[in-house]
Amino acid sequence: MKPRSMIIGTGHYVPSRILTNADLEKIVDTSNDWIVERTGIHERHIKADDENTSDMCIKAGERALQQSGLTAKDLDMIIIGTVTGDMRFPATAIFVQSGLGAVNAAALDISAACSGFLYGLVLADGLIASGKYRYILVIGSESLTNMTNWEDRNTCVLFGDGAGAAVVTASDGTRGIISSYLGADGTLAKLLWAPGGGTANPISHEMIDKKLHLLHMAGKEVFLHAVKAMCDAALKALSLAEMSPDDIDLLIPHQANIRIIEATGKRLGIPKEKVYVNIDRFGNTSSASVPIAIDEARRNGILKPGMTCLTVVFGGGFTWASVVIKF
Ligand SMILES: CC(C)(COP(=O)(O)OP(=O)(O)OC[C@H]1O[C@@H](n2cnc3c(N)ncnc32)[C@H](O)[C@@H]1OP(=O)(O)O)[C@@H](O)C(=O)NCCC(=O)NCCS
Repeated sequence: MKPRSMIIGTGHYVPSRILTNADLEKIVDTSNDWIVERTGIHERHIKADDENTSDMCIKAGERALQQSGLTAKDLDMIIIGTVTGDMRFPATAIFVQSGLGAVNAAALDISAACSGFLYGLVLADGLIASGKYRYILVIGSESLTNMTNWEDRNTCVLFGDGAGAAVVTASDGTRGIISSYLGADGTLAKLLWAPGGGTANPISHEMIDKKLHLLHMAGKEVFLHAVKAMCDAALKALSLAEMSPDDIDLLIPHQANIRIIEATGKRLGIPKEKVYVNIDRFGNTSSASVPIAIDEARRNGILKPGMTCLTVVFGGGFTWASVVIKF
């Protein structure tokens, strides 16, 4: 398949405040050894109280625009993957549009949990292929620590905040998105969700007392589904690209748990040195995880021009996605 659109700039932002495993030892009954061994996480970044998801998006977006050589006025669409937006409405993308001064851009959010960035990237690819959009800013950003139950050691050690962004435009024919695959299974939604605050469980004192507005997760089940779905999605995207795992220079998987990352790489037969890992420093930043990793890998020289990258993600819903990109 011929590339249709390509990434011409990336950027990321994480808040300055760091929460270490030692800090968490003071909050819940856990230990640095348990967290490192079972998740691979050493520390994560936590947003400031007065910092919004849109603020993180704007900083990541500005960095991506700077690298692309464009200005915000060049954008004709902003797509943000987030489930922890500033407000229930309007979309967080609206505040990013005004914050960046992207006066010519339409703006919308996508709710696909950790898969939000790749869902957005695939949507951008299609919009560019339609010929109606030229420059699209896709951002994944999450303030999951805002819906974390800090009394639940099963979940509170896992998540961090941040944003990652990419500017996408039509391919030059040699680089870009070669193939993609999206999937979902709504029958498993309750294994990872925050069920309060919407129409199903409207805001009430009772709902808040039951902590339904916070994140609930069946960790073991999520783990097993994540490995299977990420491998399946990766193989489907590779097959659409008429490629095998051997053709991949760098695997950028969702950073949810080092054991999920390692199991995915192993099942795909991609050696460890070709798998990008930064979960130790950021934890699971949900929809921000993949674009933060892409930007970091580009800036530190691990992801070089000409490389073929396989990126794959799994998230609440369940949702999953995989994209093969030549950089
Ligand atoms: C959450 C997760 C790290 C738990 O690891 P696990 O190896 O599956 O651990 P288990 O759930 O089997 O729990 C093992 C024990 O550790 C305990 N435990 C859980 N969290 C702990 C913590 N932070 N510190 C210490 N002990 C903990 C459990 O209570 C359990 O104790 P018990 O046997 O006395 O009941 C792991 O299941 C996971 O990463 N799941 C996927 C999560 C994810 O990626 N979510 C987002 C998807 S996008």
